[in-house]
Amino acid sequence: MSDKGVGPAGGAPAGTAADPAPQTARSAAVWEALRELLASLAGAGDGPLRIVDAGGGTGGAAVPLAALGHEVTVVEPSPDSLAALERRAAEAGVRVRAYQGDTVDLHTLLPAAEAHLVLLHNVLEYVDDPASALTDVVGVLRPGGAVSVLAANAFAAALHRVLLGGVAEAHRILDDPDGRWGEGDPMPRRFTAEGLTGLTARAGLVAPRVRGVSVFADLLPGRYDTGHEDEGALAALESEAARRPELAGIATQLHVVAFRPEG
Ligand SMILES: C[S@@+](CC[C@H](N)C(=O)[O-])C[C@H]1O[C@@H](n2cnc3c(N)ncnc32)[C@H](O)[C@@H]1O
Repeated sequence: MSDKGVGPAGGAPAGTAADPAPQTARSAAVWEALRELLASLAGAGDGPLRIVDAGGGTGGAAVPLAALGHEVTVVEPSPDSLAALERRAAEAGVRVRAYQGDTVDLHTLLPAAEAHLVLLHNVLEYVDDPASALTDVVGVLRPGGAVSVLAANAFAAALHRVLLGGVAEAHRILDDPDGRWGEGDPMPRRFTAEGLTGLTARAGLVAPRVRGVSVFADLLPGRYDTGHEDEGALAALESEAARRPELAGIATQLHVVAFRPEG
């Protein structure tokens, strides 16, 4: 395992830089939720938030968060991803601390109970044991801090298989505890909102809020996104959809924010 600061120190103070968050239709709802969360976690304090991105990959979330002025640490097992993160941070001119490791290594790599926010985005699908991974994450979270979990929605996957003509596969997804359509399914695991909130509750987290991410974008012909003339309108539609819990059931991904109890 290694620890290295990535990129030059600094980054614009939160709230004063041009918003560096990605603006695609698929990412709109997540970043809207994260912006709200950052504001509420910052509260009366004026310093940067300590944010851990567990399984942060190539820094798609970590680098924009660092550009907002926060102290971001990525813990990621893949050396290739860490190298790409280093390049991305350098290009953005921000510093991201990076460690090579799994969620199980969080407690040895980082101080206990220090982080204001831990991201676990698109990671629970791949870990050996999602319940343990969440418990490991909670260990580095300060009381009152938040976990942001983003994970694939099994019900949406069934809907998408049907739209592709895979009726039997859709049925298998509904029957399979891991939400997979068969041996050839490249996704190791998918979740339901109930399953995810059950996991956060078992890890001791409270006040979960579930939003749907990409309710419409993945249903469109050609699944267009970046650069399409309707992208702005689609991003606005996704933001609106994320505010309607009844639509989360068919969203491609589920975003759950939950909190470590105070005291
Ligand atoms: C689909 S990528 C998501 C990357 C990033 N979080 C994002 O949303 O773009 C899944 C990431 O989880 C990482 N990963 C897999 N198993 C892990 C584990 N046990 N602990 C931490 N990260 C893990 C992979 O290396 C990979 O970077």
